[in-house]
Amino acid sequence: MTVPTDDDLNARAARVLAGGATHVARSYRPAIHVERARGARKWLVDGRELVDYTMGHGALLLGHAHPAVVEAVDRQLHEGTHFGAGSRLEVEWAERIAAAVPSVDRVRFTSSGTEATMLALRLARAATGRDIVAKVAEHFHGWGDSVVAGLGPAGAPLLPSGVPGAVGETVLVLPSLAPEVVAAALRAGDVAALILEASGARFGWLPLPPEHVLEAARLCGEAGTLLVVDEVVTGFRVGRDGMQGRLGVRADLSAFAKVVAGGLPGGAVGGRADVMDLLAVPDDETGERFVSHPGTFNANPLSAAAGIAALDAIESLGARTRAEAFAAALEEAWGGEIAAAGLGGRVWRLSSIVHLSLDDPAADARLGIRMREEGVDCLRTSAFCSAVHGDADLERSVAALRRALPRSVSVGA
Ligand SMILES: Cc1ncc(COP(=O)(O)O)c(C=O)c1O
Repeated sequence: MTVPTDDDLNARAARVLAGGATHVARSYRPAIHVERARGARKWLVDGRELVDYTMGHGALLLGHAHPAVVEAVDRQLHEGTHFGAGSRLEVEWAERIAAAVPSVDRVRFTSSGTEATMLALRLARAATGRDIVAKVAEHFHGWGDSVVAGLGPAGAPLLPSGVPGAVGETVLVLPSLAPEVVAAALRAGDVAALILEASGARFGWLPLPPEHVLEAARLCGEAGTLLVVDEVVTGFRVGRDGMQGRLGVRADLSAFAKVVAGGLPGGAVGGRADVMDLLAVPDDETGERFVSHPGTFNANPLSAAAGIAALDAIESLGARTRAEAFAAALEEAWGGEIAAAGLGGRVWRLSSIVHLSLDDPAADARLGIRMREEGVDCLRTSAFCSAVHGDADLERSVAALRRALPRSVSVGA
């Protein structure tokens, strides 16, 4: 078999894949093409080895191909991948989520984080009989019509291309989560849900004052608005009970994905029994507020097996603590490199996620690309650390940043 080069695959991808890629965040040029991954590393088609911090867009807290997950998925593969019926696995998976997160009475599985936030908002609208949902500018909740408002750069239209203008009448984009902003938005009593990343936009890239989240929860309670906490990235990563546990806030509904599905496709909504029970098919199927929720691959056995194995291994291995300890070391080391380079920039961290930013926007835009060229693959310039990143990864990551920094500052370097 002839192994294609990255150049060859880029040319073929440009012809056959829309936009040459399969995700907007992977649409950089030249794209890389990964052949295999294990632990904290991945290998490209040309054999190049990268320290990986994209980590399945944050899904892989245990690293690539963790033996516990591989074994569970392999076993399930032989037992069947779709039963067209309920399974023991979906019950056991849901029990783990409900046991970990106090605000979750019941769970409904979806196939992705986007589907989870879409379902949470539909449930909130059905439960309250209100159409409007509020979200915070720059907070990311996937690509459903209701949540993509307010994501563009300053001055961009409220809604991206392809979303009907009428959607704008049902979405309120709050410029911030400041208490006076939230209070004003909820005053009329017509908002079904306030959805937010309790970590602040982009998993803590723009951190929020914790008291703003707590006050938003209180104001929601007063206004009869459901608080939807998006735990797609933070769930089971920043704590067993997610960001809501760290902050001491109680969500009405939560959206999960990524870590919860152990690196396979999957998501979930969890929350208050009275709201979640709108998913229960009424006896006569005419229940006024019944929310019908299909989805061929909801709780598919492979994802359920991976999710259960990952959630168990995370607890038994102390994976969060390990990942956080590594992230703290990386934060310190990268911070030292930026200071030593005499460049304006910042390194900060939410739990096991390290964020990196240079003050000069042009250099900042090049940094992720240069880092990749130097052997370290971040999600833009954010690093998802795992329980299996170790000293050798740290060493390589520091050396890569040292080489990438000057090359980011000067054009064409
Ligand atoms: C906070 C948050 N919510 C929702 C989503 C959407 O999840 P998915 O990509 O599984 O649709 C993402 C994806 O990165 C996310 O970061």
